[in-house]
Amino acid sequence: MKDLISITDLSIEELQELIAKAEDIISNPDEYCEKCKRKKLATLFFEPSTRTRLSFESAMLELGGSVIGFSEAASSSSAKGESVADTARTISCYADIIAMRHPKEGAPLVAANAASIPVINAGDGGHNHPTQTLTDLLTIYREKRRFNNLKVGFCGDLKFGRTVHSLIQAMSRYEGNSFVLISPEELRVPGYIKTDVLDKNKLQYKETDNWDDMAELDILYMTRVQRERFFNEADYLRLRDVFILTEDKLTNAKDDLCIMHPLPRVNEIERAVDSDKRACYFKQVLYGKYIRMALILKLLGVE
Ligand code: CP
Repeated sequence: MKDLISITDLSIEELQELIAKAEDIISNPDEYCEKCKRKKLATLFFEPSTRTRLSFESAMLELGGSVIGFSEAASSSSAKGESVADTARTISCYADIIAMRHPKEGAPLVAANAASIPVINAGDGGHNHPTQTLTDLLTIYREKRRFNNLKVGFCGDLKFGRTVHSLIQAMSRYEGNSFVLISPEELRVPGYIKTDVLDKNKLQYKETDNWDDMAELDILYMTRVQRERFFNEADYLRLRDVFILTEDKLTNAKDDLCIMHPLPRVNEIERAVDSDKRACYFKQVLYGKYIRMALILKLLGVE
């Protein structure tokens, strides 16, 4: 495997290897601090990011490597009309590996086909975000020690939330999982997720517009309503506050419920929930750095 464009580029065995590697890095960070000496990561971010870009950068720095890149399209030659393919070919002359975020679905694949170095999709439009999914999987594994027989609730913007699409794809590969898809009708998961992923794998799922299944959930994955993907501001304003997680909604939830969120949060989780022992979303941020360290090592072929 040269690139990571979709979470399904990784076999279940490769996923497990990455999880094991990340856990080893967490336990023995000093053993990894020079693994990428003289290697360079290029972060090409055509869309805003805090966690993904900075976790990639800190991952490479903690591996002893260095980082180049840009954090907005306006400061790159794409503002002068350069294509994604030409940008990727150019960066192949300067760096050893690329992490790319782009508003257009498929742009990282175009880059991967043009580049002679590995390309990692760091989020493409409303499509996929495989390294967030790796982050989510490491969080689930650290909390539950398994990927099967889990009831997972996804709540919020399930239409535009690319992290939701990638995580459903990933969890669909394990036995006994079921899904509760909580959203306003307008923000339900795209049809292809239902037909090509959930139905194809004969998975149990339920679409709902209420919190009634909270007591049965093992994981609750909250998401932000993605303002930047709406065509109409009035629709965003109407839908943004429909689902807000508050402490009182957790009264009947399991003691070991794992509450996740890819972040950034706007106001879909009340601040009071942050101190609930079931809130895992800031641990999730930290795990994102370790799993990206493991991924960089794998794609660079570093033992
Ligand atoms: N979760 C995530 O992708 O966050 P950023 O947009 O800040 O990178």
